[in-house]
Amino acid sequence: MWIRQGILLAFSAGFVAGENGLNGWLRYASLPEAQRQQATSIPSVIVALNSTTTSPVYVAAQELQAGIEGVLGAKLQVLHEPEVTASSLSVLVGTVAAYTSKYGNRNISSLIADGYWLSVKAGSVIILGQNERGALYGAFDYLSRISQGNFADVDVVSNPDAPIRWVNQWDNLEGTIERGYAGPSIFFSDGLVVKNLTRVSQYARLLASLGINAIVPNNVNANPNLLTAENIEGLGRIADIMRPYGVQVGISLNFASPERLGGLKTFDPLDATVIKWWTEKTEALYKRVPDLAGYLVKANSEGQPGPLTYNRTLADAANLFAKAVQPFGGIVMFRAFVYNHLADWTVWRADRANAAVEFFKHLDGKFLDNVVVQIKYGPIDFQVREPASPLFANIPLTNTAIELQITQEYLGQQSHLVYVGPLWKEILDFDLKVDGKPSAVRDIVAGRRFNKKLGGYAGVVNVGTNTSWLGSHLAMSNLYAYGRLAWNPKQDAQALLQDWIRLSFGHDRSVLDTITKISMESWPAYENYSGNLGIQTLTDILYTHFGPGPASQDNNGWGQWTRATSTHIGMDRTIANGTGNAGQYPPEVAKVYDNIETTPDNLILWFHHVPYTHRLHSGKTVIQHFYDAHYEGAAVAQTFAPAWESLRGKIDAQRFDEVLFRLKYQAGHAIVWRDNICGFYHNLSGIPDEAKRVGNHPWRIQAESMALLGFKPTGVTPAEAASNFTAVATARNGTGEAVATLNFPDGTYDVAIAYYDILGGRAHYGAFINEEPLLEWYGNLEDRLGHAFSEKLDGHSATRVTIKNIDIKKGDVLKIIGLANGNETASLDYVAILPRGIVD
Ligand SMILES: *[C@@H]1O[C@H](CO)[C@@H](O)[C@H](O)[C@H]1NC(C)=O
Ligand SMILES: *[C@@H]1O[C@H](CO)[C@@H](O)[C@H](O)[C@H]1NC(C)=O
Ligand SMILES: *[C@@H]1O[C@H](CO)[C@@H](O)[C@H](O)[C@H]1NC(C)=O
Ligand SMILES: *[C@@H]1O[C@H](CO)[C@@H](O)[C@H](O)[C@H]1NC(C)=O
Ligand SMILES: *[C@@H]1O[C@H](CO)[C@@H](O)[C@H](O)[C@H]1NC(C)=O
Ligand SMILES: *[C@@H]1O[C@H](CO)[C@@H](O)[C@H](O)[C@H]1NC(C)=O
Ligand SMILES: *[C@@H]1O[C@H](CO)[C@@H](O)[C@H](O)[C@H]1NC(C)=O
Ligand SMILES: *[C@@H]1O[C@H](CO)[C@@H](O)[C@H](O)[C@H]1NC(C)=O
Ligand SMILES: *[C@@H]1O[C@H](CO)[C@@H](O)[C@H](O)[C@H]1NC(C)=O
Ligand SMILES: *[C@@H]1O[C@H](CO)[C@@H](O)[C@H](O)[C@H]1NC(C)=O
Ligand SMILES: *[C@@H]1O[C@H](CO)[C@@H](O)[C@H](O)[C@H]1NC(C)=O
Repeated sequence: MWIRQGILLAFSAGFVAGENGLNGWLRYASLPEAQRQQATSIPSVIVALNSTTTSPVYVAAQELQAGIEGVLGAKLQVLHEPEVTASSLSVLVGTVAAYTSKYGNRNISSLIADGYWLSVKAGSVIILGQNERGALYGAFDYLSRISQGNFADVDVVSNPDAPIRWVNQWDNLEGTIERGYAGPSIFFSDGLVVKNLTRVSQYARLLASLGINAIVPNNVNANPNLLTAENIEGLGRIADIMRPYGVQVGISLNFASPERLGGLKTFDPLDATVIKWWTEKTEALYKRVPDLAGYLVKANSEGQPGPLTYNRTLADAANLFAKAVQPFGGIVMFRAFVYNHLADWTVWRADRANAAVEFFKHLDGKFLDNVVVQIKYGPIDFQVREPASPLFANIPLTNTAIELQITQEYLGQQSHLVYVGPLWKEILDFDLKVDGKPSAVRDIVAGRRFNKKLGGYAGVVNVGTNTSWLGSHLAMSNLYAYGRLAWNPKQDAQALLQDWIRLSFGHDRSVLDTITKISMESWPAYENYSGNLGIQTLTDILYTHFGPGPASQDNNGWGQWTRATSTHIGMDRTIANGTGNAGQYPPEVAKVYDNIETTPDNLILWFHHVPYTHRLHSGKTVIQHFYDAHYEGAAVAQTFAPAWESLRGKIDAQRFDEVLFRLKYQAGHAIVWRDNICGFYHNLSGIPDEAKRVGNHPWRIQAESMALLGFKPTGVTPAEAASNFTAVATARNGTGEAVATLNFPDGTYDVAIAYYDILGGRAHYGAFINEEPLLEWYGNLEDRLGHAFSEKLDGHSATRVTIKNIDIKKGDVLKIIGLANGNETASLDYVAILPRGIVD
């Protein structure tokens, strides 16, 4: 018995250590014995009604074989021979048509394209797709059930809510990814499609398991060279690799390609030579990729070329492409993200949030019927909170799709845990009440509300070569929830999360409860410690969109304004006195947002310009809410790493360690956020925090007041990115030493060290108490978090490490040594000596 257990333990430890995230939620981990026993009758054979290896039906059978073997330990044979008949204990997979031709009529009249019927009856399983891709989706549904220990009999028809369920990648041909945080592109390198497409195939598998049916692999800021003959051949290889998973390829176009690649003198969409150029390119593309899904176009946005150069409309541009792809059954996704990024901020009534309706409303009815306008969920840009874009309500004659972001551009860039499912649900469920009738955003984009044939979802994912796909294992819940919601937006965000947890991390109850808790708290916490009350994320919008930078929002042309003064804050988007944005919503919704009394607190600063002393419905003033929410959000973020640590031994070593590192980083950076935002508005408004926390740090030793050798005091930009507005740094290539005598009562403390990890080197640090080593570390977050921060001391590079449970006596001497490396100076902001329970 002892020996047996020993072997089992050794086996399981060896197995779990190997996990690197590559399989995402498709691990097919062996079910615990107790749950496995519920599978009373296991099918004995898999019957696939297609033997072509590139058929999604064939792939479904392979997947069923691997999945059943992984989950139940039974390796089933796959039969393709036409003469086999479905035995009573088989898993049969195929299309309705193939089944009907073989076994007689099976009329499942309610199936639509990509849908499937799944029947499990006493261990016998039938999976029939309306098309081949539907059969694969049904197989993944069955596998998801048994992977979660669900062997119940079932008879379901599952149809997608919308036909368009795409992902976008913002990959550049050189191999970088715009707003990607998980390493270089899996698709492109050095201007070409990569040779080895193994990762592309693995990506297609993950996408197919969610019902995603197309991908645009190249950046919306598109390179005309995508359309060279060599790259068209490369796209063909990508399409060939993804086709067996039912994932079609579409591409982003650069509107000026006829000029920049084709050598024409113009890219005027109504010019005959331009039309001919696009027609021929389109033919060449479809020759190599006959099932090309279509085009994605970002035009006249953020400096991108577009039709307005020639006084043509955005509809002229969209229709040019629509006509080119129409004979091949392709569609055009035309982004509504069109706005003037050189707007005049001195104009009170100017408003970027108005742009989409201003650019598109008058074109309603002018788009051909294979054009879909792709609309970001909110009127600005993937902020931590925005109202639903009013454009959804304003173009009833036009097909629409909603654009969501899985990559966390404004939401902590995968270095912070932020589960976005609940945010998406709020938008999708929001009722715009068009013409006084129920008009949930999900019903508009599905095409139901306005009787449109096309519509759906586009999710910006930006996976990279990192085996974790997104850089963070926990961030994969967002990709999972995106795909599942695109299939059925009525699902509950927490239920989807829990499916993902069971599939990704197993069946332990505490694992499920803990990951559920921290994930469900993560968006509210992030909103609390970044930008609350609808003021936007308050990140540095002029640089990397990562750390705090509240002043960057205003006084520039980008239009993400907060209009913060020493007395007031918020955008006046009212109809009478403001930008009129509230009036872009249908009357019933407009009435709510136009009136400060009825606007919900969480959007008050989105729609109204108010004094810091304005009282919210909660009874707090705006400024006190800022202080309280930032402290509460940061406090909640401190609980994530300890919660995760309680799962030690229940999760494989690699993923456990990688997640823990990120959650600890988040705890430190949440405090950076809290202090930056509170410090900024405290200084700006001059209004003290009722709880006396802001600007008052009794447990901190400011670096500038330590005895310094080599370190020199320095201001930082923005000023609030340093505690007491001052940090210290070495010269480039320099070394520094900072010493302080600790004047705290004897006791056990946590020691937090705040410093800056900038790009250009890996500075080396050591902390000592009475010359005894406390911690040695490197400024190497760019390696460990897999994305670039900043070249300066600021809110992006500011970071804080904590060493727990250190015995300290009054009079102990703390010393910190820093060695610059490469271009990275060593730097220090403060040290905090924290009694239990205090997070100063
Ligand atoms: C089998 O799969 C191939 C490739 O997807 C497809 O062309 C063919 O029509 C399929 N055959 C049947 C009977 O479904
Ligand atoms: C399937 O059933 C529907 C009604 O349930 C009927 O209208 C349709 O004709 C049937 N189709 C076939 C192929 O039997
Ligand atoms: C292709 O890429 C995969 C996954 O990254 C790797 O395992 C494999 O070795 C590569 N194959 C070749 C021939 O380089
Ligand atoms: C664009 O059209 C406007 C009015 O329709 C006209 O005033 C302007 O000169 C035109 N510009 C160009 C470049 O054709
Ligand atoms: C993945 O990213 C992590 C940092 O998040 C890094 O430590 C690891 O080396 C990367 N792995 C690969 C294969 O790129
Ligand atoms: C009305 O707009 C002006 C700017 O035109 C602004 O200064 C003022 O605060 C606004 N009034 C209210 C009540 O929001
Ligand atoms: C966010 O802040 C609000 C307001 O202070 C508070 O009620 C809520 O509990 C906080 N939630 C989290 C997760 O930080
Ligand atoms: C504090 O705010 C004032 C404007 O109210 C500004 O001039 C000053 O630079 C700010 N100081 C810091 C340290 O941010
Ligand atoms: C804050 O900085 C000022 C000068 O920048 C310095 O005189 C003062 O000692 C610092 N405060 C603390 C608590 O270190
Ligand atoms: C740092 O020192 C090295 C070697 O002494 C030297 O080559 C390099 O130029 C120095 N860099 C800077 C930024 O001073
Ligand atoms: C260091 O900075 C110089 C100029 O500022 C730059 O040319 C060089 O590439 C940087 N080196 C590194 C390693 O970042």
